[in-house]
Amino acid sequence: MMRLDKMLANLGYGSRKDVKLLIRKGQVQINGVVIKKDDFRLEPEKDEVKVCDELVVYKPLVYIMMNKPEGVISSTDGRKTAEKTVIDILPDEMKRKNLFPAGRLDKNTTGFVLITDDGNFAHRILSPKSHIPKTYIAGLDKPFDDIVLKAFQSGMTIGSDVCMPAVLEAVNGDFKTARVVIKQGMYHQIKRMFKSFGIEVLSLKRIKMGKLCLDEALAPGACRFIDKKELEMILSE
Ligand code: URA
Repeated sequence: MMRLDKMLANLGYGSRKDVKLLIRKGQVQINGVVIKKDDFRLEPEKDEVKVCDELVVYKPLVYIMMNKPEGVISSTDGRKTAEKTVIDILPDEMKRKNLFPAGRLDKNTTGFVLITDDGNFAHRILSPKSHIPKTYIAGLDKPFDDIVLKAFQSGMTIGSDVCMPAVLEAVNGDFKTARVVIKQGMYHQIKRMFKSFGIEVLSLKRIKMGKLCLDEALAPGACRFIDKKELEMILSE
């Protein structure tokens, strides 16, 4: 069973607020009966829903984990710049309307990108209020030291951007490969954080969102569907 307003919002009939208005105005019918209660619960696979007399085709939302390769952009439309997008490289059997990457990685950043058609879920993970930890492995041109570590840990300012405290750990003894955990997603954030100490990020890979790790079986460019349990793991801090 699913709430009527949630189902319609998921299917792109507008925000929860827009959809509630549609319902209250009497523009939604279920099995031929006008329903004016937005918390009405229905079985989307069985019940026949019409909005403004048009049949609603129910399709469950999809969530895809991609291991983004270098050189593709996290966007839906690369036509303006003639660049390949993460949507372009989806296998044909996974392609469907309205898919978009929930969050951006730079063109040369690799790793975990979530691709979905669920606007509500994307909003939950991208909203500035949601501080889902994102874990990266960064390759650096020189080692980081204690000063950098302290700044990352206590929170720092880059330009006018205030960075929340982040985790920074050396992955090996030379301090040139780092595990970084940030809870925001500001433009070039990790590169700019290191850059303010004169350190260049040579490679960057996202390996985890929330508690969900990038599936190591996915080669660069490969993807797979993720299930509801894994989705919950993304939301957990
Ligand atoms: N930080 C960056 O600098 N780039 C990314 O792609 C992600 C986080």
